[in-house]
Amino acid sequence: MSLVSKLKFKGRDIVAIEDFSREEINYILNISHSMEPFAAKGSDMLKGKILASLFFEPSTRTRLSFEAAMLKLGGSTIGFAEAEIASVRKGENLADTIRTVENYADIIALRHPLEGAAKLAAEFSKIPILNAGSGAEEHPTQALMDLYTLQKEKGKIDGLKIALVGDLRYGRTVHSLAYGLSLYNIELSLISPESLRMRPEVIRAIRNKISIVEDANLEKIISKIDVLYVTRIQKERFPDPAEYAKVKGIYRIDLKTLKSAKKDLIILHPLPRVDEIAAEVDSTPQARYFQQVWNGIVVRMGLLALVLGAVE
Ligand code: NCD
Repeated sequence: MSLVSKLKFKGRDIVAIEDFSREEINYILNISHSMEPFAAKGSDMLKGKILASLFFEPSTRTRLSFEAAMLKLGGSTIGFAEAEIASVRKGENLADTIRTVENYADIIALRHPLEGAAKLAAEFSKIPILNAGSGAEEHPTQALMDLYTLQKEKGKIDGLKIALVGDLRYGRTVHSLAYGLSLYNIELSLISPESLRMRPEVIRAIRNKISIVEDANLEKIISKIDVLYVTRIQKERFPDPAEYAKVKGIYRIDLKTLKSAKKDLIILHPLPRVDEIAAEVDSTPQARYFQQVWNGIVVRMGLLALVLGAVE
């Protein structure tokens, strides 16, 4: 039996990226790659299966791409995008919501403002939970699509020099991505203002695995990196608006910023962007954030197919 066939995804929760080995992540990326043709022309691989998307926080890409991924694989979707219209408004707790929805669906994509929400839901749920964002903590499926994007755009992940820029404290995508990247042989620059430095627990978990530099100055490293991963300052997660005002607009990537960058640098962003990447950058060959959006569909198709057992 090959190593790969021993990997088990059917029925598994995707709550945190640390639950996955490099071998498992590579396998998810390969399966996702095999979904590219189905993303274009559709499939009935998940016919009869139902995805419930429970979004207690705003979302455009994550929710719509999970739902589109399910529809492209022949399944159906139910759910809500605004907790205000669900019984949560009447005071229902998360556990009861999960215990109810598990009767209606085969898998749940959950986005919730509280850290630990996806883990808690997975403890209660009889059906698999896909963490679509748990507060400022984690966003594992975004990290998988980011890794997929690196593999697709650069042909490999090992050997890359990668900078994560912006809000490394409250941005959940960079937490999951940093954990995921620590399984590869990469060099990581963490560029943020002092008040938005990468969470200490993430640093502790990754510092013995990869080389890390923390700095506030993007100019210092821009000419050396292969990947610039830009993030939004997470205004809604600041406890104090005065603290947000101090860092608002602190990094803005424009054509001037890119003057000394490598020609084959790629710029990624989980989106939505506010003002951290100027519109003039969109037409440069380095801008890949809209290609990254497409990759979200194929990776979520790969995850649904694996967790629901349509592929092994
Ligand atoms: C991100 C999120 O929700 O964490 N968006 C996404 O899922 N693509 C990033 C953000 O909101 O800044």
